Amino acid sequence: MARILITSGLPYINGIKHLGNIVGSMLPADVYARFERARGNEVLYICGTDDHGTPAELAAAAVGQDVAEFCDAQYDIQTHLADEFGLSWDHFGRTSRKPTHELTQHLADKLADNGLIEERTEEQVYSIDDGRYLPDRYIIGTCPHCGHENARGDQCENCTKVLDPVDLIDARSAISGSTNLEVRETKHLYLRQSKMVPELRKWIASQTSWPHLVSSIANKWLDEGLQDRGITRDLKWGIPVAHDGRWEDYKGKVFYVWFDAPIGYIGATREWSEKNAEGGTNTDTGWERWWRTDKGADDVKYVQFMGKDNVPFHTVGFPATLMGSGEPWKLVDTIKGFNWLNYYGGKFSTSQQRGVFMDQALDILPADYWRYYLTANSPEGSDASFTWEHFASTVNKDLADVLGNFVNRIMKFTASKFGEKVPEGGEWGPDEDALAAELEPRIKAYEGYMEALEFRKATAELRAVWAAGNEYLTKIAPWTAFKTDPEKAAFGCRMGLNLIHLFAHLSEPIIPATARKMHEALLPAPDVLPWPGGNLKDMFQRIEPGLAFNIPDVLFQKITDDQIAEWRTRFGGEE
Ligand code: 2FM
Ligand code: ZN
Repeated sequence: MARILITSGLPYINGIKHLGNIVGSMLPADVYARFERARGNEVLYICGTDDHGTPAELAAAAVGQDVAEFCDAQYDIQTHLADEFGLSWDHFGRTSRKPTHELTQHLADKLADNGLIEERTEEQVYSIDDGRYLPDRYIIGTCPHCGHENARGDQCENCTKVLDPVDLIDARSAISGSTNLEVRETKHLYLRQSKMVPELRKWIASQTSWPHLVSSIANKWLDEGLQDRGITRDLKWGIPVAHDGRWEDYKGKVFYVWFDAPIGYIGATREWSEKNAEGGTNTDTGWERWWRTDKGADDVKYVQFMGKDNVPFHTVGFPATLMGSGEPWKLVDTIKGFNWLNYYGGKFSTSQQRGVFMDQALDILPADYWRYYLTANSPEGSDASFTWEHFASTVNKDLADVLGNFVNRIMKFTASKFGEKVPEGGEWGPDEDALAAELEPRIKAYEGYMEALEFRKATAELRAVWAAGNEYLTKIAPWTAFKTDPEKAAFGCRMGLNLIHLFAHLSEPIIPATARKMHEALLPAPDVLPWPGGNLKDMFQRIEPGLAFNIPDVLFQKITDDQIAEWRTRFGGEE
């Protein structure tokens, strides 16, 4: 049994996530976690909210709330929606909780002890009208690299380049829009990443399993000359820099959100182990076997999921923090990075409320419709585009016509001819040999793609498995055979019901709620539906003659043209 640690980029607390956020982080991580659990591996899937930084402060200010209260409320909302979406993490933590605070201060101490932190007096943009500094997202302007007009001070959303607020062209305050700005001096801590280039380069070069998208971003960063990074900010909300007598003159300053956010993976794991420890204790050490190579984490496989804008921080920033500490921290093994999912060719956007958000999606249709569509159209090789027309045609063809229709057709027919129990009689013959010969390599390929984190290809293979079941039924046509050869018809129906069972097991990672419904129509479903291993022929004996079954409601409703028109009006189509 392998031990697999999975994390997905921690969603900012600033609001409900849209489909473009989850398609490249939480959803694929969940699909993979479910797949590895089904294969019997020990999986720990950790996520949480990224509570600090300017996104949280700005969002709270926009609704006139205290930032801590705002974050508490948003955490509850995100937890609830994730649950509805079927996201099965083992723990959903928060970077504003004690474990991440302690770990962040601890790691900063270690980096300082190793000579990797430097104090610098630097120039920061100060807004005279707002009476404060404007770090990161508090300032907006034109990107000096690509000309994007709404670039934020920390990173350009368009070209993904990491920015320094003072470099923005035509800069203005994100709070007041004021351009009455000046540059003032302020003191900050810098992580001396430039000193770590040889070590980082060596480590990155040794990562042979990273996809091209990820290694090219990492190498580009190094090739462009890795800069030392400011890891503190003139903000109130965040993890205090001054602690335990250290950096006392930094009172009122906090660590930069991108310094503490990835440390949040470890912090959330510690929350998880404290929660699981008998009675809860903040000295529980269960988390260490996932994160400390001296405590058993050396045989953990650690896989991270994230959108491409997050890749630099995970290939360079976070590893620099962990390596630089000189402590035996577990480093990531595989990073799955994703391109963007666009909405009608433009960006999904939280600030402009453009696109479909999780609450709206779930209001329209159950999670599995979205899970399937997003996994089948995962923006892996290039950016992908969401349109209502494409969504409807995928749902109608794959989920309603291929899978839903298969389940409905065979169950209804069997019940009408044999009653709601599995018929006996008939035997395995050449048609079944042919079916098994088609399914076996497809299931292997599906498993291989899942293992390789190639979600588009995996979903296409799963669909082909469902289609093979449909073709088999069409070929043996129990509805025709029933008149001339009832035994053959009975066997065909039994095979059909066994196929539903097999499909339930195979489909669970992608459409978990539907898979359980399919399974429970035939047999009680355990918490995890094990991956079908061994001989496929044995898998077709599970649903035995005489077993009573029940017919579930239609699994997937077709999306109508009227619905497409309604949603296009509600959410907007082309710009
Ligand atoms: O891009 C984002 O949504 C960030 N909140 C991701 C953080 S990932 C990790 F480092 F926490
Ligand atoms: Zn089963």
